[in-house]
Amino acid sequence: MRFAMPTLVLSFSIVGLLVAQSPPVPAKAKDESAKATGAPDSKPPEKAPAGQSKPPEPAKAESPVSKTEKSANRFSPTSRPERLVLTLLEHPQSRMGLSWRTDATVSTGLAQVGPALDSGYAMKTHAEKGTGGFRSLKARTETVEAGGEKANYHKVTIEELEPGRLYAYRAGDGRNWSEWHQFRPARTGSRPFRFVYFGDAQNDVLDLWSRVIRQADRFRPDFMIHAGDLVNRGENDSDWGEWHAAGGWIHATVPGLPTPGNHEYSGSISLPGLARKARLTPHWNAQFNLPANGAPGLEGTCYYLDYQNTRFISLNTNEKDRFEAQAAWLDSVLGANHCRWTIVTFHHPVYSSARKRDNAEVRAFFRPIMEKYKVDLVLQGHDHSYGRSGLMAGAESADGSDAATRGDTVYVVSVSGPKMYDVEDRAWMDVRGGQTQLFQVIDVSADAIKYEAYTATGVRFDAFEIRREGGRNRLVQPGELPASESSAPVLWLAAALVVLLPAGVIAFRASRNKLA
Ligand SMILES: [Fe+2]
Repeated sequence: MRFAMPTLVLSFSIVGLLVAQSPPVPAKAKDESAKATGAPDSKPPEKAPAGQSKPPEPAKAESPVSKTEKSANRFSPTSRPERLVLTLLEHPQSRMGLSWRTDATVSTGLAQVGPALDSGYAMKTHAEKGTGGFRSLKARTETVEAGGEKANYHKVTIEELEPGRLYAYRAGDGRNWSEWHQFRPARTGSRPFRFVYFGDAQNDVLDLWSRVIRQADRFRPDFMIHAGDLVNRGENDSDWGEWHAAGGWIHATVPGLPTPGNHEYSGSISLPGLARKARLTPHWNAQFNLPANGAPGLEGTCYYLDYQNTRFISLNTNEKDRFEAQAAWLDSVLGANHCRWTIVTFHHPVYSSARKRDNAEVRAFFRPIMEKYKVDLVLQGHDHSYGRSGLMAGAESADGSDAATRGDTVYVVSVSGPKMYDVEDRAWMDVRGGQTQLFQVIDVSADAIKYEAYTATGVRFDAFEIRREGGRNRLVQPGELPASESSAPVLWLAAALVVLLPAGVIAFRASRNKLA
């Protein structure tokens, strides 16, 4: 790693040929050696790699998807339901999005849903009879020709769910069914919840991203955010086949909340007379049943929903000619926001973490609005490296060096797949890192947003908490108590002394007088 001390680089250069992972670097304290800080109590971390160096070139070995398989598309559809995906929708305490795929011969889609029971046979009997709260829901079926594969995609919006109740469902056509899966809609009010955030998966998704989502699932998140570039070639069906195979039944049990990246767009032509802008892959809205409440024309990519008193907003940063419309929409959605916390996700970062990269228009259009309404957390991708700010406001420059001393917004760039760019030390970063596949586990409660980044091997890489104090955000490092909590015991002790000391003196004198 280029920031490590030269002696360490030398000492571990041989080990570095085998290990391609870098620890986080406090961006404003380069000389301090970074520490892996340990996983949550319930998940003891494995030992961190001992040393760092420039990572080896990727091996040219065959991935689990061979060239022959790619040309034949080993993921071609059949009459059996597959690629089941749950997605969050507006009002996630009572609604859930579901989609799946079959070949084009299956023109009917059905989902059976009801309260999960301990007896599987009893559950199936209820489902077949339509008793015990089980329902059969007809899907909206559309034929999509994408990536050379003609397939039928079936979408169901499951409604009238009881908040927080465990449900079971299966998808099919009445004859061929998926296995039964379980899910739980959001609860009501401000109950604590946990979600995972992934930066770009994009490359070698089945080969090397699969272990990241599987490691993340061990933290039992309520849902998962994907900050764009889920695959490398958005129009290629075998790329999506890898994404679905990597997540497998996780996609069918943990709802997703994806926002599109530039790799979900393709087909641009800039020849004179043939100008055509890139288009969103037809896979996107066919396979993700997402809210359509955003700026017009950006259904399923620009949207918002409220999950247990936190507003989540997805922006589509690929559609530059709709930035103005999205900015107006963002202003209205944030202006009418009564949730305690606000988290925004999109693909192209406001402040870049990788060398020679910048998204000035994203910064110009969206940063002032997010900071005006004190958005708490901005989750981004695209730069294939890790960068995390402190609480920022007012920085218009690419490196964030003109930031106000204190703001309320934390910006994060992360990457979950194996492709890496060189991370660049920029003023906006409090922590940076490279050559490391990561996922983030984020716990939201009324008091705080607790954030932890983990490596693919389960080692904690970065951590902080955002605490709300007097209408402003305060950043707290792990183990550090916020000001209000750390001073509270002292204040209570002082108050107790003020009240009890004189009372004790009076009581002591009274008892002496009695004895006298
Ligand atoms: Fe990207």
